[in-house]
Amino acid sequence: MAQTNVEQISNNNRTARSRRFLMCRPTYFDVTYSINPWMDPSVPTSADTGLAQWKQLHDAYVALGHDVALIEPVPGLPDMVFAANGATVIDGKVLVARFRHAQRADEAPAYLDWFRTAGWSQVHQAEYINEGEGDFLYTGSEILAGCGFRSDLRAHDEAREFFGIPVVGLTLVDPRFYHLDTALAVLGPGEIMYYPEAFAPDSQRLLAERFPDAIQADEPTAAVFGLNALSDGRHVLMPERAVELAGSQLRERGFVPIGIDLTELLKAGGNAKCCTLELRG
Ligand code: ARG
Repeated sequence: MAQTNVEQISNNNRTARSRRFLMCRPTYFDVTYSINPWMDPSVPTSADTGLAQWKQLHDAYVALGHDVALIEPVPGLPDMVFAANGATVIDGKVLVARFRHAQRADEAPAYLDWFRTAGWSQVHQAEYINEGEGDFLYTGSEILAGCGFRSDLRAHDEAREFFGIPVVGLTLVDPRFYHLDTALAVLGPGEIMYYPEAFAPDSQRLLAERFPDAIQADEPTAAVFGLNALSDGRHVLMPERAVELAGSQLRERGFVPIGIDLTELLKAGGNAKCCTLELRG
């Protein structure tokens, strides 16, 4: 018996890889318009509460040994805290987003400037609408690419050409889960967790075939933004409520779920992953 336990533990031993992230302080956070079903401008929001919650996430990354760079928030861009949407960065190549809605359009030049100033040499402003890692999730060998609400389908071809890696298109059908990163999280190379009902039937089949061992999350977990999680290969940062609901599924596989309360930012339809852009290479 004891031997089995030791084996199980060593089989499940996950190693974190230290990452570099880009984040944006929610100094000007507010909900003044509605571009997804979570946003209700009549509900009061507090930038101070948002900032305090965001800081918990930021400090958790630093405590785990990750390197966090910051982009200066711009007045009048209340959604800029969702840095995941600014770009997709793989192997030193930066594809800067082009936003669907006018309210967020000016975030793109701010990200473009940040990357150029920070010395990244392969920076390309996307021609077609894509909202960075909102819809483009890198599994380590390919990009899972969402569409249905935000990204233009032509952005999938643009990403394939720019990064030179396969892009697998997935269609989202539930307006609450309007970005791929609200319905699917990459936990490790080729390992994912997702909420099947957020996807069209053919995309559900594709995911089941490609990722037979994936964690399938239930509706209550998805509804508290539990799929908007950031994994470093071992630690999975996600909403506190989602840890209560889905934490055991992650622990069984050797992951360490860490709950962060980002309920203020959820009023804009975002959570841990949305606040985090990974800088790869
Ligand atoms: N209010 C923002 C929007 O609707 C939230 C973006 C959340 N970001 C994300 N990666 N899902 O655009």
